[in-house]
Order: sequence, then C-alpha cells, then structure tokens
Amino acid sequence: MLYAFELSGEHDSLPIMEAYACMEIAGLDFKEQEILDQCLIVEINGVVSEIEPRLLYVAERLAMSHHIIRVAGMCATSVENILEMVENIDYSDHIDTAKTFVVRARKIKHYCDLKREFIEGHVGGKIFRKGYRVDLNTPDVQFRLVLGQKCIFGPVVASVSRRAYEERSPQKRPFFYPGVLMPRVARALVNISKVKKDEVLFDPFCGTAGILVEGALISARVIGIEVRPMIASGAQVNLKVCGGHYNIIAGDACMVPLGDECIDAIVTDPPYGRSAAIRAESLYHLYDGSFREMYRLLRKGKFAVVVSEIDITGFAKEAGLKIIDEYSQRVHRSLTRRITLLYKEK
Ligand SMILES: C[S@@+](CC[C@H](N)C(=O)[O-])C[C@H]1O[C@@H](n2cnc3c(N)ncnc32)[C@H](O)[C@@H]1O
Repeated sequence: MLYAFELSGEHDSLPIMEAYACMEIAGLDFKEQEILDQCLIVEINGVVSEIEPRLLYVAERLAMSHHIIRVAGMCATSVENILEMVENIDYSDHIDTAKTFVVRARKIKHYCDLKREFIEGHVGGKIFRKGYRVDLNTPDVQFRLVLGQKCIFGPVVASVSRRAYEERSPQKRPFFYPGVLMPRVARALVNISKVKKDEVLFDPFCGTAGILVEGALISARVIGIEVRPMIASGAQVNLKVCGGHYNIIAGDACMVPLGDECIDAIVTDPPYGRSAAIRAESLYHLYDGSFREMYRLLRKGKFAVVVSEIDITGFAKEAGLKIIDEYSQRVHRSLTRRITLLYKEK
C-alpha cells in the first residue's frame, strides 16, 4: 500500500529523515517509493487495519509533516489528468456510503497554475456524483490533492497538529531563557535520535529543557545536565508541567555523574560560545570533554544528535562516535545550524 507524507518545506532532508525514523520506531515495514518536493511516497507492507493505527502514532510523533495520505491515485499535475484519475478510482476502498467527505488541495510552490478552489470543486463534484455526501465543515473523510511535481490524491489517514507545537512555544513556558530551539525542531531531532517510549533520552546541555520537554511528551524518560543552577531549576519547572519521568542535574557536561552505557539516545544543543554561556576552560575543552562523556554514556547501537554552529565531527570522531549524516539549516542571515547524526557502534 502506498502512503504519502505531505512534508513541511522548512528543510530538504530533515522531514524525510524524521518520517523514516518514526516509521521505524512504529515497527512499519516500508520502502521508499519516490521523493518529490515536499512529498515523500513510501510503500508500506501489511494490511491497512494494522498499518494505519501505527501511522496515527507516527503522526503523533512527527513535527515536520502536515498529513499522511493513503495514495488512491497519482498523475501529472494538470486538470485533465487529475479529473481522469479521480473518475477512475474505486472509492469504496476509501470511504463508505454513510460517510461524508471534503476535498482539500495544497499547492506546492509553482508546479502548476491551477486554482485550489477550482480543482477542489471539480474533484468534489466527481466524488459526489458517485454517491457520496459532501460536508465542508465536519467531514468524516478528507480527500487531499497535493499539487506539486506530481499530483498525489487520497484520503488523509493521520494529521500532525501544528497548533500543539505553537501552544508550546518557549515564551509560553513557566520558565523562559533565550536560546531555546523551537519545539518543532526539537521534536524532529528527538525523533531522528530514534528514542522510543520508556527509553532514556539525555541532554548534557539541557538549558531550559526545550529538547527534554519534547522527549517527555513522547514518553521517553529524560535526563538533563545544566551547569547554571538557576537554569537547571527552570528546566525542572518546565518538565514538571508536562509530567513523565525526568531528572535534571545541576552540573558539568564533562563530568556526568551517571554510569557507563545507561543512555538510549542523546539530543543536545551545546553552547557555541556566542550567546549561550560556556562554563569550561575553553570551547575546545568543553566539546572535547563532553563528547567523551557522550560516548561513555551512550549504549552501543544507539544515536546522538548534536546541533551546533561549528563543525563538531572532529570531536565526535575523536571520542569514538561514527558520523552518520550532517544537515545544515539556515536559521537567519548570520546563523546556520549544523545538525549531526552520530552513532555508537555495536
Ligand atoms: C544553547 S543552550 C541550550 C538550550 C536548550 N536546548 C534549551 O532548551 O534551553 C546551552 C546550555 O549549555 C549550558 N552550559 C554551558 N556550559 C556547560 C557545561 N560545562 N555543562 C553543562 N551545561 C553547560 C548553558 O548554561 C546553556 O544553558
């Protein structure tokens, strides 16, 4: 069965890596079918009744996607092709006659000059004439047309709540201190670390716990270290409101009071020596010492995700970690974030 992930356009590869990680965590057996601009198509093995509850869990975790669509049809993005495609679909596979539907279209960049309302109306009309009822406000099924490099069409099986992330914006937390990652970025990184429910997620530079809050919300057990006691207690307050298992230590990322190989995933945003304060002899000592600790603490076969402004690959390799991937994300004119995915070999 083919499914399409309608991706947010904020990065080329992070939304795709996040979708793969979440499908793996959910135990789905999938294969990449096609990568289009802001749309990932995968083939998932199995039966719909087993796949789709897992996709609901995937959507609960995802941050950088909008919807997951069961692909009913794919064609070139032109009116004639779209209308022919929707005419030939067997809708009984996607909606039962007692249910209502709506058609919603999203245009990706400028791959076509179709008007959204025009195509929604025409496609809706075709489905209506096959005996299904329209409800524009509270439909049971939303059919989605993704109008990009190709047209992807099908019912939405799960959606990502953008509002939940906006409601968690750092300024709305009980304790705020500048320099926090936005929740959607933090969540995507937590997902890319492949941490599962009840596993231990560690942030050795936890600040106000922006990353750990996202970990706690997917039911990981979270541990953070923060050198400034005032910020460490702010992190506790922020974690308290989202519940779950958490432990914040006021201390130094270069001397972590935890035993070897007790951590399942690390996601961290170390200070760059610019806006965030460093507590170490130098940035070199801080990175050298903390990467060695990350290696010691991480279990074999597990991942670490590090956000930085500088190239950290030398420190990571020196500590024994393998570089799996590197992404860069332009935040604004004078800040490009590097995101490095690291692995401790078995
Ligand atoms: C870029 S901020 C992290 C922000 C964090 N992601 C958040 O959600 O607030 C880096 C943090 O590392 C802390 N820090 C600096 N030196 C440290 C050290 N040696 N050990 C632990 N934390 C340290 C800083 O106080 C700062 O809060």
